[in-house]
Amino acid sequence: MSKMQPVLHETRTFKPSEAFVNQANLSSADIYRALCSEAAEDYLGFWQKLARKYIYWWKPFTRVLDESNPPFFKWFDDGELNVSFNCLDRHLISHPDKVAIIFEADDGKITQSTYQDLYVRVCQFANGLRSLNVKKGDLVIIYMPMSIEAVIAMQACARIGAIHSVVFGGFSSKSLLERIIDTNAVIIITADEQIRGGRVVPLKRVVDEALAMGGDESIKFVVVYQRTGGAVQWHISRDIWWGDLIAEKSNFCEPEWVNAEHPLFILYTSGSTGKPKGVQHASGGYLLGAMVSMQWIFDYKSTDIFWCTADVGWITGHTYVAYGPLAMGATQIIFEGIPTYPNAGRFWNIIQNHKVTIFYTAPTAIRSLIKLGPDLPNQYDLSSLRLLGSVGEPINSEAWMWYYTTVGQSRCPIVDTWWQTETGCHMIAPLPGVTPLKPGSCAFPLPGIMAAIVDEMGQDTVNGQGGLLVIKRPFPSLARTIWGDAERFKGTYFPKNLGGQYYLAGDSAVLDLDGYFWIMGRIDDVLNVSGHRLGTMEIESVLAAHPLVSEAAVVGKYHDIKGEAVVAFVVLKGVCPQAEDAQRITVDLRNWVSKEIGPFAKPDEIRFGDNLPKTRSGKVMRRLLRALARGEEITQDISTLENSLILEQLK
Ligand code: WTA
Repeated sequence: MSKMQPVLHETRTFKPSEAFVNQANLSSADIYRALCSEAAEDYLGFWQKLARKYIYWWKPFTRVLDESNPPFFKWFDDGELNVSFNCLDRHLISHPDKVAIIFEADDGKITQSTYQDLYVRVCQFANGLRSLNVKKGDLVIIYMPMSIEAVIAMQACARIGAIHSVVFGGFSSKSLLERIIDTNAVIIITADEQIRGGRVVPLKRVVDEALAMGGDESIKFVVVYQRTGGAVQWHISRDIWWGDLIAEKSNFCEPEWVNAEHPLFILYTSGSTGKPKGVQHASGGYLLGAMVSMQWIFDYKSTDIFWCTADVGWITGHTYVAYGPLAMGATQIIFEGIPTYPNAGRFWNIIQNHKVTIFYTAPTAIRSLIKLGPDLPNQYDLSSLRLLGSVGEPINSEAWMWYYTTVGQSRCPIVDTWWQTETGCHMIAPLPGVTPLKPGSCAFPLPGIMAAIVDEMGQDTVNGQGGLLVIKRPFPSLARTIWGDAERFKGTYFPKNLGGQYYLAGDSAVLDLDGYFWIMGRIDDVLNVSGHRLGTMEIESVLAAHPLVSEAAVVGKYHDIKGEAVVAFVVLKGVCPQAEDAQRITVDLRNWVSKEIGPFAKPDEIRFGDNLPKTRSGKVMRRLLRALARGEEITQDISTLENSLILEQLK
């Protein structure tokens, strides 16, 4: 609990300006309290009202929540809708010519797509997928760069009731293969190459590799969007160019009206044990969460230029790029590149050029930009900004203050949004027109979200005492299951010791005396590296599969930019390597992890030993490894340690 101390020393608060309050969607503590009591008094009525208000239902629902088979909750489950219809068709009457997406390529080239244009392109592509015999309920893997086309691919799946699973373009062919096999996908949509920071990364080649390794059993077609025109290998019977697929396809594609519970997508995320979990979301509840949080937390207005920097390969890029902004009819930026190319002013330049009003990014990006150019934002006109957001990990108060004063010029509230792949949308976050902000705290739960902090037995903790972050009642945007593993869903998120009723987030947190939530970190062996969730087990099993390695243990260590860095302790099959050998094998092992999982999972540091510190029963003592990695004195009890000499070696 040592992480808890500094945050509670934070006493500064920042109130929204009068100007912000006057224009806010939710503008007073009374309104917030009224919403919360409405939810407390009539929980189902509260969600029913919102679901009717925000979503266009083809067939209105009559049931709000089916709790008959916990924790497999169903929301609005006799209603029918289409998510793509809600994101596109709805806007064609009121504002067909409004720009939906402004795309800025890595090299600065700008392309725009209006709602009318996006609608037509989604329809054509959806018709293309249908022509490849993709049907409702089929699985489609999307392995694409940040692009308008990635969003079109996702929306087209939603339009025909196919279930997409986007795989982040940084994953290796092995990781891609795992996801192909787990989903049994019939189609992959990819690009020839992607360009980030001036560097070309082959995507199609990675797909080819995955298919050659056995992914070709279920996959019938690979659709390839031509991004760079670079050379690719072509399999005539399997590969088809995006352009050829949509040629002569109709501009109209009847949406598939699906049940509210119909799966919208699966997104893989790391857990503490075993292989990544395919988190499955449902159509109706997820869409509702995306829209309501756009309205309340992002204080969305039709005049906004919205920019969420997250990649579509992560949940943030699903909810706040591919779905939320479109469902609200927003104009948004999609950026292909990286924050530091061609220089560390890129983000500020984009904000200036496109007059971005709402900017949402991750603490790791903020920290790296502080390091590279603390005064750079002052060289740009950032006066269009009115709201800033943060997501992915706790934001330290220095980074928060810089974001607030230098980027937001002390004018823009910061919404520090706590949520997860599993929750689908923001759960705990300030209401920008209401909540006095405390740097580093995500403030209060959204109305209708019954978040609390409990002990191991499920009892509420006293304010000031840390505990487990839970959500006590099911909510519409919650994931429905882990794909193909309902038992794991139940066991991981609704554990028996908490009564099987509470959703266990996997984070520890504390309430301060004013009731603000402070997130302290994961309670399980999940690392958060640059906002990427990584299971230590995942990296360990990859290391252990290397021919030279006998055993490996992985822990996290504080890193000033990435938040956490990966430290691996490795025992080789032969003797413990020294000097040059150790260096060579380190490089080898780093490349190995990069190849097996993806470059972002590479250990920052590898230490070799003759053994790992273990208890007499053979369990690796991770808390010791953590202390070693962090260079801390070992103050813990080591009486159960079998081989205490090993600590010296691993230091
Ligand atoms: C962490 C990302 C503190 C947390 C949307 C959570 C945060 C995990 C915050 C989910 C925040 C996310 N403050 N910690 N504002 N946002 N986290 O699934 O540990 O990639 O459990 O979803 O990130 O990561 P995921």
